[in-house]
Amino acid sequence: MCPRRLVINYILVYKNIGRFIVKTKDSKVSSEFYLDNDAVKAFDTEFRDWEAYCSVLSSLGIPRYTKIKVLDIGGGNGIFMDRLLDFFPNATGVVLDYSQFMLDRNTHNPRKKVMQGSATDIDTLLLGENYDLITINVLLHHLVGEDEEQNLINITRCLKSLHCILAGTGKLVVYEQVYEGWLRQPSPGEIIYRITKVKSGAFSFLMKRLGANTAGVGVRFRSIRGWQGLFERHNFRSIHTGFVLEDKPSIFRKIFLNIRKVGSYLFVLEIQNAGARSENSHHPAYGVDE
Ligand SMILES: C[S@@+](CC[C@H](N)C(=O)[O-])C[C@H]1O[C@@H](n2cnc3c(N)ncnc32)[C@H](O)[C@@H]1O
Repeated sequence: MCPRRLVINYILVYKNIGRFIVKTKDSKVSSEFYLDNDAVKAFDTEFRDWEAYCSVLSSLGIPRYTKIKVLDIGGGNGIFMDRLLDFFPNATGVVLDYSQFMLDRNTHNPRKKVMQGSATDIDTLLLGENYDLITINVLLHHLVGEDEEQNLINITRCLKSLHCILAGTGKLVVYEQVYEGWLRQPSPGEIIYRITKVKSGAFSFLMKRLGANTAGVGVRFRSIRGWQGLFERHNFRSIHTGFVLEDKPSIFRKIFLNIRKVGSYLFVLEIQNAGARSENSHHPAYGVDE
C-alpha cells in the first residue's frame, strides 16, 4: 500500500474508533465518570515534580510569610498541600477531591481542611470563598462526560467558578499532562479519550491490564494550545508557562497515539478583564478540539 493511502487509513481508523464502539447517552455531569477506589489508588503517590514547581512558586511574588488562603483541587492524599503549607508557613489550605478514599489518606495538619466534592460543583461548595492561590494538578483532564461537548461544559463549570473564588490578585496554577501531536487531528488527546471511554468490559479490562487505570471512564488530555485557549476563553491570562518534565514514550505509543511530544506542563494564570482576550481566543476552534 502506498504511504499516502496508509496515512489516510490511519486517520480514518482513529477518527471512527470511538463512534463504532461507544454508546451515546444523555449529556449530564454524572458520577458515573468518577473513578472507583481501585483506579484512584494509583494516584496515592508523592507529587512528582515538587522541586521544579517550587521554583515557579517562588517567582509568583506571593510573600511567603503572609496569611494566604490556598485551595488545591483534586488534591487527593494532601501531600502536595502539606508541602504548600510548609512553603507558606502562615497559610491555610483546603484540599478538595471527590474521592473520600483519597481524602482519608491525608495526614492531620491544623492549617489544612479536606472537603469532599467535585471540581464541577465549586460554585455551590465554595460559594462566597476567596483564595489567593488555587492549584490544580493533573485533574482537569478527568472532568469528562459522554462526549466532547460535555467535557467542555465540565471544564467551563469549573473555570467559571474559579473565576469567582480567586482573589483579584490571586494566582491559578494548573499543572497538566500535555500532548502534542504530529497530526493536528485526531489529536493524541482525542485518541486517548476515545479509547479510555469505551465501556465494554473486556476492552476496558484489557486497557487496565495495559496500565490505563482510567479505562472505561475516560480522560481528555489536550495540547498546550488547547488548554491555553480554554483558559483564555474563561478570562484567565497566562503569566508563566513551560514544560516541567518531558516524558519519553515508546515508539509504539508515539505512532499509535500520534504523539510528537508529551510531558508535564505548568500554566500560571491570573484573572484578566473580559474585554481583553487575545485575538486567537475568539476563533471558534481555538482550544476546543485539540
Ligand atoms: C491524577 S490524580 C492527581 C492527584 C494530585 N493532585 C497530584 O497531583 O498528585 C487526580 C485526582 O483528582 C481527583 N478527581 C478526579 N476527578 C475529580 C473531580 N471531578 N472533582 C474533584 N476531584 C477529582 C481524583 O480523586 C484524584 O485524587
